[in-house]
Parts: sequence; structure tokens; C-alpha cells
Amino acid sequence: MLHLTNKIYKDLNQMSDSRKPRRDFIKLSAMTLGGVGAASLLIPFISSMNPGKDTLALASTEIDLSPLEEGQSLTVIWRGKPVFIKHRTKSEIDIAKNTSLDELPDAEEDSARVQKDNWLVVLGVCTHLGCVPLGQKASDTKGDYGGWFCPCHGSHYDTSGRIRKGPAPTNLPVPPYVFLTDNRIKIG
Ligand code: FES
Repeated sequence: MLHLTNKIYKDLNQMSDSRKPRRDFIKLSAMTLGGVGAASLLIPFISSMNPGKDTLALASTEIDLSPLEEGQSLTVIWRGKPVFIKHRTKSEIDIAKNTSLDELPDAEEDSARVQKDNWLVVLGVCTHLGCVPLGQKASDTKGDYGGWFCPCHGSHYDTSGRIRKGPAPTNLPVPPYVFLTDNRIKIG
């Protein structure tokens, strides 16, 4: 088992205290298991990654969540795909939980999509044609429902990663993951 430390992007979304310094990106550390450092690379390098499929298939990634403050997001790469990790605010949680299933094209309770209310973990791949939705950066538009917006053809996702408007047929998928501790998850 090879442990590698990778640089990953963290975006600052909805800083609860406007007096705090705003940074678009900070460096976080992640431990990558399975001998695949390439499975947890920076978003801008997705297109340049080309690890073997057999290697990617074995990858799992450990993520330290402790640096993420409420309202902040983190993107990591797992099996060649971006995974959005969102430390949800109480407001975002309440909105997700109080949404009627009748309003959802792909009806799914928020409780079925999270293991802990304050942490949302979803694949950051639009279920229409596979673009990476906006919403991770503080400066990104987050669509009409405060989650993510895919500008390719206009799909809007809510604070649970559920499709609300646009051509995407289904919610952002939830990858397999477990909480190893209160502040550390393993994806895959
Ligand atoms: S790929 Fe996202 S809306 Fe088409």
C-alpha cells in the first residue's frame, strides 16, 4: 500500500463570516490508497491524466475533512472523476430536507444521499452529457437551487445534488464512501 500526499483544490463557498480572508484555493492533503497517486490529482489536470483503467479501478482515496469550514467545498479526483465534497450549512441542509419529493424529477430523499447531514459527497459529473458542473468555487454560479449549475445545456442541481431543472435526467450520483473518523472519509 502506497501512501501519497496530493495537492487538491478547496474552493471557498459562502463564507459564513465575511471578515475572514477569502481565498479561491488552498492546499489540502489527502492520503491515497491503492498505490494510485493519479487518482487524486488537481482538477485542471483531469484532461491530461491517462492512468490505466485497471489501476484506477483499484483506487480508493482518503480525505481529511477537518480543514473544510461550513459552507466550503472540496473537489478530489477518484477513479478519474471529480468528486464534490460539500460541508453544508444549516440553511443548505434545511432546504434539502424540506424539499417535497413532488418537486424532484429524480425523487430521492436527502437522507438517502448523505451519511451525515453536514457532509454531501457526490460525483461532480453532470448526468446529461458529462460536463463538470459549476458551483465549487466561491465565484461560481450555483444555479437556481443553490447547489450546482451545468452550463453546457443548463442543468440546475440543488444542495443535495439533485437535478431540479434542465436536461439532466438524474441526480448527481453518490459514490461509495465511509467515514473512518468524524473528519476523515474514504471514497471507494
Ligand atoms: S452536460 Fe450538463 S446540461 Fe448537458
